[in-house]
Amino acid sequence: MAAQIISGKEVAKTIREELKRETEELKKKGITPGLTVILVGDDPASQIYVNMKAKACEEIGIRSEVIRMDRSTSQDDLLEEINRLNQDVNVHGILVQLPLPKQIDEKLIINAISPEKDVDGFHPVNVGKLAIGENTLLPCTPNGILELIRQTEIEIKGKHAVVIGRSNIVGKPVSFLLLRENATVTMTHSKTKDLPAIAKQADILVVAIGKPEMVTKEYVKPGAIVIDVGTNRLESGKVVGDVKFDEVKEIASFITPVPGGVGPMTITMLLKNTIEAAKQIHH
Ligand code: GUN
Repeated sequence: MAAQIISGKEVAKTIREELKRETEELKKKGITPGLTVILVGDDPASQIYVNMKAKACEEIGIRSEVIRMDRSTSQDDLLEEINRLNQDVNVHGILVQLPLPKQIDEKLIINAISPEKDVDGFHPVNVGKLAIGENTLLPCTPNGILELIRQTEIEIKGKHAVVIGRSNIVGKPVSFLLLRENATVTMTHSKTKDLPAIAKQADILVVAIGKPEMVTKEYVKPGAIVIDVGTNRLESGKVVGDVKFDEVKEIASFITPVPGGVGPMTITMLLKNTIEAAKQIHH
């Protein structure tokens, strides 16, 4: 039987309506959640993302600000800006859009953001808290993936989750989140031997490897939940995921489409983190 499609677009819309109500409640108490995004340089994709983030904030009533800095900005000048924002009580979330120009050390910048304001969930303190199962600001894409799995209403506890890809922004943190939900988690990557055989054991398969349509039906157990985190633009201009959607949807129980699956969840979780940070800071 063909899989049910999990519409990230629809889920994101529902959650954003809820976040809008929550923001209105906070405003009644005199708290306006605020997000500041720093964009260094003029990378076209980054410009689009930053504008999308600002627009999403505006739609739900979060105060947002974009600081645009020249591509020749020095590391010290960027650090100074971050320090200023760390101390600004009206700024609850700070996001430095990546990638950064090569004169700037990305790690050093992420480390400079106050962990309480790190709405990306990239700071080592927040990554560490996630790893030891403490509550903290969660990285946006992994948290969005968990929300999509919850939508299926299938219990995660005890299930075998296989994650393909071990990046710091998706593969590793989503593995920790699934573990926290009591799944049995297998982390796999580009060097894993017999990947199709391992993937085929998964009740929940999360694919974040960045290879267009790599995961075919040979990788998927009938009835599995398949979450496709990839966004790849083919030469034809068509956008596809890391999963061969048309054939995998015939055997999976649930599957996320690309586009319209995981993508819309990432910014939604950024909004959620900004509200969460505002609540914690004013606690
Ligand atoms: N560049 C691409 N994705 C992201 C993201 O999630 N956060 C930041 N800060 N930069 C990005």
